[in-house]
Amino acid sequence: MPRVRLQVSALHKAFGTNLVLRGLDLELAAGEIHALVGGNGAGKSTLSKIIAGLETRSSGELVFDGVAYAPTSRREAQAAGVVMVLQELSVLPTLSVAENLLLGELPSRAGMLDRKRLFADAKAALVKVGLGSLDPETLAGSLGVGHQQLVEIAAGLTKECRLLVLDEPTAALSGAETKTLFELLRTLRAAGTTILYISHRLEELEVIADRVSVLRDGQMIATKAIRETTRAELIQLMAGQAIAMVSRKSTRTKGEAMLRVRDLHAGRAVRGVSFEVGAGEIVGLGGLVGAGRTELLRALFGADVRDRGEVFFGDSMQSFSPATTHESVERGIAFVPEDRKHHGILAPLAVRTNASLTRLPTRAGIPGWINGAAERSGVLGLLEKLRVRFADQEQPIAQLSGGNQQKVVIGRWLQRDVRLWLLDEPTRGVDAAARQGIYDLLHTLAEAGPAMLVASSDYEELAMLCDRVLVMSNGRITAEFTRETLTPDAFMAAAFAGFSTETRTN
Ligand SMILES: Nc1ncnc2c1ncn2[C@@H]1O[C@H](COP(=O)(O)OP(=O)(O)O)[C@@H](O)[C@H]1O
Ligand SMILES: [Mg+2]
Repeated sequence: MPRVRLQVSALHKAFGTNLVLRGLDLELAAGEIHALVGGNGAGKSTLSKIIAGLETRSSGELVFDGVAYAPTSRREAQAAGVVMVLQELSVLPTLSVAENLLLGELPSRAGMLDRKRLFADAKAALVKVGLGSLDPETLAGSLGVGHQQLVEIAAGLTKECRLLVLDEPTAALSGAETKTLFELLRTLRAAGTTILYISHRLEELEVIADRVSVLRDGQMIATKAIRETTRAELIQLMAGQAIAMVSRKSTRTKGEAMLRVRDLHAGRAVRGVSFEVGAGEIVGLGGLVGAGRTELLRALFGADVRDRGEVFFGDSMQSFSPATTHESVERGIAFVPEDRKHHGILAPLAVRTNASLTRLPTRAGIPGWINGAAERSGVLGLLEKLRVRFADQEQPIAQLSGGNQQKVVIGRWLQRDVRLWLLDEPTRGVDAAARQGIYDLLHTLAEAGPAMLVASSDYEELAMLCDRVLVMSNGRITAEFTRETLTPDAFMAAAFAGFSTETRTN
């Protein structure tokens, strides 16, 4: 039996009242490539961040090479020999590759940056990751995302590394770059380094991993030798039992098509998408992180450029290609973005101001003159109708709970005649109790006849809210389910379907 590198026992992690890791155990051997898989929100990133010192655990034990291990910072984990490459790139685009590689320990001589040594050290680090041909003086920002990711991995490996944690490293990599990465991982493994490898690309695990662990809802479901399992089995383990659908009998009847999308392409993320949404219909958009859901919604709204394809919209189904988001709003499209804190609310401003953002009444019809009295009475009625709980409409919206903030963000559109709702993760950061309130609100809104397209990472949410669910995977729609045909297994299989090696196009 190989030596144990990391032993995780009874690990718990709660964010507030949300228990996201629930007593999980995991054993990583010295010199193995251990894959970690699971659906959205299973806890993969949280687990790896705890291992790498970026999050602290709530309870449980970690033992690293025989010694109790509880890092409280990334630096402390690195000192112990644990390096993590994050899902989000942190390469600084305006610095050279060399500076990015050795940031924090730039070599100096007599107080001056020793550029000669910097480039020599950087070159050595690049050779190690198979990027020997890359000039260390290149500006990092001028590289493609794949190469930036490899530079990031190289930066991690300038420190001594006994455990390397990679969270979705190949999402941005081309086929050739992935090969380079795998070569590197094999070299590291041969030298005794343990690698914890998180990926959506199940096929690649068969090529690179020795063992695989499956996480579901913060619990470790199984650990298997990669040779002794199949993709189908992994998908089943990730999906779990069917959730009883809390189906609320819909009183809505699906009307004529309100939105028709034909072979839409937008950037790298949306690569040939076709579907339809009827009036009064709520259609869900499921998939893994990075599947292209947000980009699809943005392209429909006119926030991102469309490269190809056709969109027909409205009661008369005219061809629709907005030049600006303003035009979309004028035509009756409402967009509720994923990141409420940055794009949805103006945190320091009053609830009243936030609620009336889509239509500020002007005084005497003069644009720019806001009629305070009209605004106040209009907003108050609206907030009451939405059952938003607040003390005073003049209080900053930041003081409201997540659920109530979201109701304001959704509700502000009610001052317009919305024909199409585009909602991205409408209950992110909203606690379980308040979610139902949002679902009720959306059901009520749909009854008035608009079409609704809802992107969500939460299977249960899609099952509870939607009449139909489309699954996106790697830029394409890989399946469509009705309430009757939706099952966790089939959903999970569709979510992973696009991330196979043959479909890698970048
Ligand atoms: N900083 C945070 N605050 C609150 N909840 C969080 C935070 N980070 C993650 N979560 C929640 O923890 C759960 C697990 O998330 P994560 O570890 O990112 O899953 P995965 O990487 O498997 O998709 C999710 O429900 C997520 O919403
Ligand atoms: Mg993650």
